[in-house]
Amino acid sequence: MATTKLLLSLLLLVQLAATAYSIGVNYGTLADNLPPPAQVANFIKTQTNIDAVKLFDANPDIIKAFANTNISLTITIPNGDIQSLINLRTARHWIIDHVKPFYPATKIKYIAMGSEVLHWGDDALKASLVPAMRTFHNALIREGIKDVKVSTPHSLGMMLSSDPPSTGRFRPEVHTILAQILLFCRQTKSPFMVNPYPFFGWSPEKENYALFRPNSGVRDKFTGKFYTNMFDGLMDAVYSAAKAIGFGDVNLIAGETGWPSACELPVCSVQNAADYNGNLIKHIESGKGTPLMPNRTIETYIFALFNENQKPGSAAEKNFGLFKPDMTPVYNAGVMRNQQHKYYYLLSKKYNPVYWSH
Ligand SMILES: *[C@@H]1O[C@H](CO)[C@@H](O)[C@H](O)[C@H]1NC(C)=O
Ligand SMILES: *[C@@H]1O[C@H](CO)[C@@H](O)[C@H](O)[C@H]1NC(C)=O
Repeated sequence: MATTKLLLSLLLLVQLAATAYSIGVNYGTLADNLPPPAQVANFIKTQTNIDAVKLFDANPDIIKAFANTNISLTITIPNGDIQSLINLRTARHWIIDHVKPFYPATKIKYIAMGSEVLHWGDDALKASLVPAMRTFHNALIREGIKDVKVSTPHSLGMMLSSDPPSTGRFRPEVHTILAQILLFCRQTKSPFMVNPYPFFGWSPEKENYALFRPNSGVRDKFTGKFYTNMFDGLMDAVYSAAKAIGFGDVNLIAGETGWPSACELPVCSVQNAADYNGNLIKHIESGKGTPLMPNRTIETYIFALFNENQKPGSAAEKNFGLFKPDMTPVYNAGVMRNQQHKYYYLLSKKYNPVYWSH
């Protein structure tokens, strides 16, 4: 009896440890062969440890499919809608059409204002970004929604420098707008989303560093901090840039990060993608944070859930998925639930062999 009790509490501990962190994915849909949203939502809920999903749009079928799953959702306002949302009436209508029908049955956590507007947008769009965020935030409150945060995701193209991490600074031409975004985030207690891709910083010498494999690491000569992986280096560069303009207190989210399993070059391989995403998940689970953000849990969204056969650009763009369109894993990234069950089994066997003879 006592041993059974001990076993149960051990299992509970393992379960608590396993659910203390969050694994997020980006559910992109630029493909003509993906399963229906209801099937995808059920798959994520029942077969994986993924508990947060980010969309690149506000597809009502997908938002509805996640109702009552307890999976947190980020929905994205298309770049083309942003300028109209400076108007409060328009913003309230957007919420009435795209949020309220599904809220709170679907656990909408964040609204992302556009996708990488500082990279893709023209001057008029960039200028409307923060006013639209402010108006949208007010519109949510007027519509009685107080627990949905407004953020905006940006690529690291906004960085002037990022190596060593403590010298991270924003480009002068986006400096003012980033200060406005960070001020909005601070005032509304919302996080700032950035998209770090060590994949784009890959070089043969830095492969192990980029993939979280054993490597000799890099010391930042200005802070003395020691880096064992490029993901931490990039996040700390953004942190340093934000801190340099007075916003070191704003939480950062990794809104997109990942590694393709196939492309024309050897840098893309199933092994590399499995190492990057698998080790990234372990790193996030460790709760260690980064050298400049110790013990901060960085909410992280892997790009992407599926390989997307209609994604424009290089072959790499089409092969970032953890899963094939038939929902079989491209590789083992440690997101499947049955792996956790195996872990329970091993652990309980190791700690309590007697149990198995009963
Ligand atoms: C829902 O998810 C949250 C974490 O996001 C967790 O704390 C809570 O226990 C979950 N609720 C249910 C009913 O599973
Ligand atoms: C981080 O957590 C560890 C272990 O709990 C603790 O020893 C350390 O002081 C923490 N560091 C900071 C900066 O909070």
